[in-house]
Amino acid sequence: MKVLGIMGSSRRDGNTNDLLDVALKGAADAGAQVEKIVLADYRINHIADCKVCRQRGKCVNEDDLPTVIDKLLEADVHIWASPVYWYTVSGLVKVLLDRFFCYIAWHPEVRFSERMKGKGAAVIAVQEEQDPDRARHLLGCFQWSFEFLEQEFLGFVLGPGGSRGTALKDEETVKRAYELGRKAADFARSRK
Ligand SMILES: Cc1cc2nc3c(=O)[nH]c(=O)nc-3n(C[C@H](O)[C@H](O)[C@H](O)COP(=O)(O)O)c2cc1C
Repeated sequence: MKVLGIMGSSRRDGNTNDLLDVALKGAADAGAQVEKIVLADYRINHIADCKVCRQRGKCVNEDDLPTVIDKLLEADVHIWASPVYWYTVSGLVKVLLDRFFCYIAWHPEVRFSERMKGKGAAVIAVQEEQDPDRARHLLGCFQWSFEFLEQEFLGFVLGPGGSRGTALKDEETVKRAYELGRKAADFARSRK
């Protein structure tokens, strides 16, 4: 029963990372095995959409994507964490989501779509602006993607961002992130 946190901020010690750590603590306290990947630590190239893989059975991109895909496929629940950048997900997150296409369209041996199906998926985001509605495209991007992948959406926590440490000062947000982590663990347990 494994919960994977996907940290999609460029700042390793920013608010996104802080809230993801809180959620992963909630998941660990509820008995899950947890792991966090920091997307900035991996080299994931932009999608070429060249479909060369269909001819030669191998991607033109030689990068860290297969390692990240393995981690996603191992986990029962994904907790995506992204800052709101330009009213949507960060580039780090978007590049990874785009590259899912390589596994949806090809690599039959990995059975990506079949194995992603039914996993739990939760979202944590932070933004500097006050109006929560300004995060709607970020949330929509994730929710439609989870629906496409036939994953179970477990919830969304939006916290305050800006300078480092801002989100952790907001008790209600911290509580909600922790509870989301616990919920992720409960869902992971229910899949066994
Ligand atoms: C490239 C960039 C784009 C941003 N766009 C938005 C935005 O559209 N709306 C918003 O409320 N905040 C925006 N912000 C502010 C970030 O969401 C905020 O600083 C957040 O705390 C960053 O996440 P971090 O603390 O994990 O680094 C942006 C920041 C950057 C660097």
